[in-house]
Amino acid sequence: MTFPTQRPRRLRRSEALRRMVRETALDPRHFILPLFVTSGQNVRKPIASMPGVFQLSVDNIVAEARAAHALSIPAVLLFGIPDHKDALGSSGWDAQGPVARCVRALKDALPDLIVITDVCMCEYTDHGHCGALVKTRDGGVTVDNDSTLELLAREALCHAEAGADIIAPSDMMDGRVAAIRRALDQSSFGDITILSYAAKYASAFYGPFRDAAQSAPKAGDRRGYQMDPGNAREALREVRLDIEEGADMVMVKPALAYLDVITRVRDAVDVPVAAYNVSGEYSMIKAAAAAGMIDETRAMLEVLLSIKRAGADLILTYHAIEAAKALGA
Ligand code: PBG
Repeated sequence: MTFPTQRPRRLRRSEALRRMVRETALDPRHFILPLFVTSGQNVRKPIASMPGVFQLSVDNIVAEARAAHALSIPAVLLFGIPDHKDALGSSGWDAQGPVARCVRALKDALPDLIVITDVCMCEYTDHGHCGALVKTRDGGVTVDNDSTLELLAREALCHAEAGADIIAPSDMMDGRVAAIRRALDQSSFGDITILSYAAKYASAFYGPFRDAAQSAPKAGDRRGYQMDPGNAREALREVRLDIEEGADMVMVKPALAYLDVITRVRDAVDVPVAAYNVSGEYSMIKAAAAAGMIDETRAMLEVLLSIKRAGADLILTYHAIEAAKALGA
């Protein structure tokens, strides 16, 4: 009988030992809570495909953000649900629209909370695409890159004027970081941070979000602008371009099916890397737990830990509040 000399189990003998040698740990200070802001007063409208997530009016967003902040969550990400949609998404740069009003209310009530705004046209266009449509030579339609840049810059400026700390463009148009950076700099917002959704894939995991934000495209899909799921090298190209254009932080989205991309991006750049634990990833856990198939809290923490271990510095997640509570924050 020979005995093993290498015994990794010696380090697993007690919780105290396991805790001491643990390589990666979650911390609520790295969480960002996404919120859906709608008009009205005291509105709390459930989203059928995202149990526990609501469309909230500004007053209720302030309450939710206050609860998050008390749990050491430093930042929220706002998505707007406008009353009015049109072909160009003009509500996107309305200073009286839900996002601008919400930013002002949050900065007023919670000056230390970091307010991030999602900049994209799909919540505001009547066709549901992320920019202005044009006809193609073969008679189809597509999102026009360069005229969309002007719309995105107007939206970013509107959010900055309201007091947003960080602008997060999620549209995937070429050159949008440069266009937004230029617009901000020219209007004395040179200190406003840009977090770009740099490597954003055309993913089935956004399904529940499109319910929540009422932003599904009426016709066609987003594969003409969001990335192809087969590509990882291309993510590095997108990330480098965005950093050259002035992005201060970059994001990989979704997270779970793209952990390899998170790792490669982390290794390739020096700026903070965020990962978006998207709606479909959230709802899968909720559905499996509701069916009694998994332990919800453990599965949630394990998923978030995997995203951190892959290399994400920051995690955008609808689980932020429950995860912070589970961590004992
Ligand atoms: C807007 C946007 C989307 C998400 C974030 N910003 C949807 C999309 O691209 O269709 C998805 C977030 C999620 O699924 O949680 N373009």
